[in-house]
Amino acid sequence: TEWRRDFHENPELLFEVHRTAGIVADKLKEFGVDEIVTGMGRTGVVGVINGKTDTKGRVIGLRADMDALPVQEKTGVPFASTVTTLWEGVETGVMHACGHDAHMAILLGVARVLSDLRAEMPGTVMFIFQPAEEGAPEGEEGGAELMLKEGLFEAEKPDAIFGMHVSNSKHGQLWTKPGPIMASAEAFRIIVEGKQTHGSRPWNGVDPIIAASDIATTLQTIVSRRLNLLDSQAVVTVGIMKAGTRNNIIPSSAFMEGTIRTFQDSYADQIRDEIKLIAENVAAAHHATATVEFKVYGGYPVTFNDEQLANKYSSSLSRAADGNYYEAKVPRTGAEDFSFFAQQVPGLFFFLGVNSPGIDESPTNHSPYFYVDDSALTNGVKAFINLVEDFSSDYNDEA
Ligand code: NI
Repeated sequence: TEWRRDFHENPELLFEVHRTAGIVADKLKEFGVDEIVTGMGRTGVVGVINGKTDTKGRVIGLRADMDALPVQEKTGVPFASTVTTLWEGVETGVMHACGHDAHMAILLGVARVLSDLRAEMPGTVMFIFQPAEEGAPEGEEGGAELMLKEGLFEAEKPDAIFGMHVSNSKHGQLWTKPGPIMASAEAFRIIVEGKQTHGSRPWNGVDPIIAASDIATTLQTIVSRRLNLLDSQAVVTVGIMKAGTRNNIIPSSAFMEGTIRTFQDSYADQIRDEIKLIAENVAAAHHATATVEFKVYGGYPVTFNDEQLANKYSSSLSRAADGNYYEAKVPRTGAEDFSFFAQQVPGLFFFLGVNSPGIDESPTNHSPYFYVDDSALTNGVKAFINLVEDFSSDYNDEA
């Protein structure tokens, strides 16, 4: 609780998690973790605990993310963040509105327990604390991708990797599912070029605002009319529309950005084709032109849970939550860059409910009111420890 609240009060963004990463590294050192690497993926921290040396066990990766969000906190808790930053030129608050503060506290708890138990622990556990989960700056990789690029798995590739996210749901409840558990996410950008003119004489120009509005509307037919929703699902959202400087000027261009979410790659391919077709042809019908760019900020693949891991180790999660566990039927349309790790090695990602006891509904992650009940975090610690214990003992049985 103390660690979590300290992280919460001192949130940092993207790769700028310097204080946070310093505390993580200091704590790992204090627990006697065998190897500690800092500065991987700029500010990522990796700790390795080697278990008893007489058995060759498995290598298990456990991952937590460290970055906060440009959100002005409104929870009113005594340890609320008062940190502010300049975000895209606007002064804004910084808040652990996604609960990554809780993820770090949980994984540090696991590191402390396993450090004490290492004499009985077969195999090796790799603790991965990554920066920049919340989307990379344009033209850069996010934290997971960058750590992999810098050789995270080169010396030693885990046999499995486990990751977790807190959620505004029932206190201490754990859940996961085999197969896709979170969506792919990628941004697209459309620039519509018209012809500037006086707002009183539209016939002398080409209005990019009307063309862009028509494009935004027609993009909604991709999911509703073009995709076979019996096979899988998808979301197309336009989140930015910008144009103009003055009420009586028809501007020369309009700017749009949106996001694509899918659970299978073929849908993303089809959606990209449809977006291009609609943007270019709807613009043409308005005598404007549209240029479309995809994967503007890189993007995340589908977070895919290895079927065997998910089926075999759901009991480890259920035990951690005293049966307060369920297997989800549908994935979530949020995205996670844990997906990059799970592309390299079998991965299992699960969720932990952090509402206060007895509360069913509460503000979602990324809300300025997002609240984490510290007493729910214990089940996250137990879940990781059970997974390590069960996964390594299965290996020894097989061996
Ligand atoms: Ni998150």
